[in-house]
Amino acid sequence: MSVMRTKSVERSIADTEEPEFRLRKSLSAFDLTVFGVGVVIGAGIFTLTGRVAHEVAGPAIVVSFIVAAIACGLAAMCYAEFASTVPVSGSAYTFSYASLGELLAWIIGWDLILEMFLGAGVVAQGWSAYLGVLLEQLGMPIPDAIGYGGTVDVMAILLVLVLGALMTYGIRESMRVNLVLVAVKLFIVLFVIVAGILFVNPANYSPFVPDAAPREAATGLTQPLLQFLSGIEPMAFGLGGIFAGAALVFFAYIGFDVVATTAEETKNPQRDLPIGIIASLVICTALYCVVALVVTGMVPYQDLDPAAALANAFVHHGQAWMATVISAGAVAGLTTVVLTLLIGATRIIFAMSRDGLLPVRLAKVHPTRRTPWVISIMVTLVVAVVAGLTPVGVLEEMVNIGTLSAFVLVSVGVIVLRRTRPDLPRGFRVPWSPVLPALSAAVCTYLMLNLTVETWLRFLVWLAIGFVIYFAYSRSHSRLGKDAGTYDNPAVPKVVGRED
Ligand code: ALA
Repeated sequence: MSVMRTKSVERSIADTEEPEFRLRKSLSAFDLTVFGVGVVIGAGIFTLTGRVAHEVAGPAIVVSFIVAAIACGLAAMCYAEFASTVPVSGSAYTFSYASLGELLAWIIGWDLILEMFLGAGVVAQGWSAYLGVLLEQLGMPIPDAIGYGGTVDVMAILLVLVLGALMTYGIRESMRVNLVLVAVKLFIVLFVIVAGILFVNPANYSPFVPDAAPREAATGLTQPLLQFLSGIEPMAFGLGGIFAGAALVFFAYIGFDVVATTAEETKNPQRDLPIGIIASLVICTALYCVVALVVTGMVPYQDLDPAAALANAFVHHGQAWMATVISAGAVAGLTTVVLTLLIGATRIIFAMSRDGLLPVRLAKVHPTRRTPWVISIMVTLVVAVVAGLTPVGVLEEMVNIGTLSAFVLVSVGVIVLRRTRPDLPRGFRVPWSPVLPALSAAVCTYLMLNLTVETWLRFLVWLAIGFVIYFAYSRSHSRLGKDAGTYDNPAVPKVVGRED
């Protein structure tokens, strides 16, 4: 058996038609955009903005947001091309199965599981933290033991269980709840902008790029890999601070790629997926840049609250009620992030199980609800335990590295699939390929190098576990490996079980 098994695009599409694995096709471009905005705007803008401006970038954090948006924009185009060519659940995992072979597809799927599982856990804890702040502001504090940072974060567990039940019940119902909460979230972000502008003091923008200074918190394993390898002392602020900031605020953009996981539930994926992916990224980029400008204009960056900068910028100006409104909006807003990451995680595992790389019986779709109910329940329980009982909140950089690595491989995959399958109809094409996809891979790699040594070490451990599972289980159970050459689905003109 050869090392590189590639699953043909035709076969991926044919698999989606098998009755026991068929999901309900109900989503439009609008739904996908709402879904995208719902998952993207979250803990990143509500908490990271303040911390990164305060510690690493100063007012130039807006430039960090732009740098991260460029990386995401390039990757988004690659995702859009793939999603419009291979409209199959599973996002980057499925794309790479069609272009880079089974082993790399497995690794990407494994990275995406890291992104979405951990992301859901991290944001569920962020939600619990904001809920604590809100209830305290309303004079109803949560007892320490069961709130954020307590022995058991009961609030985070409850959130995950309720959202897990909703997504298991139905994708349409989930989208309806999502729509309402996204509207609330957008309202709050616009509120921060409009109300905040009144308090902007232009003097706070100078110096716009503060002078570079040694970064005390970044030593040993907590320094970026780039500095560790080059031996240069890690610096905050200055030009370096802008890029280090970009690698951190990248978290705020994570999620537009999750749109691609719903490909099989989209009515017209070739057209709607590129719209959903790119529109959600454009909307979020615009909002982030303006929020970053407003917040750093409201409060000198040295005084920004690293934990809840958006709300506390208003407290700084004596507007406690506005802070309460923002905390309430954050609670609503973070809910949709957790919901969407849970949906994304189930769709990735669904695709991997359907292919046999994980136990195939997990991929059963409910006969009437048409959701992958077994996986949905499993994902819910695991995320609930992780969010409720572990300090997962500190692992947000792991979410970044998992996502960035998937972006790199998707970008390379676009170039490969253009060469190996130029004939495929593509609803969207990345302009100037292979230059832009190559640039996308390079920028994302650079951002990865700006993440800390300890994040890299954890990531390598995660990858090692992934390799062990692949060689111990997935490789021998892969449906593609078993069926190579014997696949006779009538929907597929000629089976290319593997192309080496
Ligand atoms: N982008 C998402 C957030 O900021 C993960 O919470």
